[in-house]
Amino acid sequence: MRRVFGANWKMNGTVAGALEFLERMAGMGSSSVSPELVLFPPFTVLPMLRESAVRAGMALGGQDLFWEESGAYTGEISTGMLREAGAEWFLAGHSERRHVLGESDRIVRKKLEKGLRNGLKGILCVGELREEREEGRTEEVVRGQIDAALSGLEEASACNLVVAYEPVWAIGTGLTATPEEAERMHRLIRQWVGDLGGAVSPEELRIQYGGSVKPDNAADILSRPSIDGALVGGASLQADSFMAIVRSTPDGQ
Ligand code: PGA
Repeated sequence: MRRVFGANWKMNGTVAGALEFLERMAGMGSSSVSPELVLFPPFTVLPMLRESAVRAGMALGGQDLFWEESGAYTGEISTGMLREAGAEWFLAGHSERRHVLGESDRIVRKKLEKGLRNGLKGILCVGELREEREEGRTEEVVRGQIDAALSGLEEASACNLVVAYEPVWAIGTGLTATPEEAERMHRLIRQWVGDLGGAVSPEELRIQYGGSVKPDNAADILSRPSIDGALVGGASLQADSFMAIVRSTPDGQ
């Protein structure tokens, strides 16, 4: 299974900074590593990155999308617009959209369905809040998010879908789940996806871990058999640290 690493820049980055990042990635040999690499910069930067992204061997993705193709939806972006800007991937259900912007499971589902139907590849983000974890509800919450997003979703397959398990309390905080905890949740997610009985083969599904992944903890986390890559925020803003994370796996050499 080919690992997949995402660089989620959130609301950070400029055209010049992104071009420099890609040039640096290319200089460090990113185009010849085996894992799949995807950069999620701000929308405004996407169209200017095509050629540099190809040289760096990185695909581009949108951090969000809307479920209609055009119309009176101020501030939203469609799959067609993303594709025109060079994106092949999108994120759905990132915790900042769920918890800062109030996106419900229903909205996440609509976005996921639309993106996959229109030929983009999606990373579905799931994960529990700190309070939910403390109340012992991690499994219930994450299973609920998986079921709501994927139950009966005919468009999804292991080729166009990646799941990112990102405990919300670990995002941007410097805290991480232990590799054992992460591995346990990844196994459960695989099992729950299998229980849904859809077209997503649980054995082939790639599940990333996300939440304060850094060069110094990546090797430990990524050594677990059910962890197939990482979705990286803060540490992806610098090419050196993102590349160090990619290289911390044997197939990232
Ligand atoms: P972080 O973000 O690596 O900065 O914790 C991860 C994410 O939000 O995807």
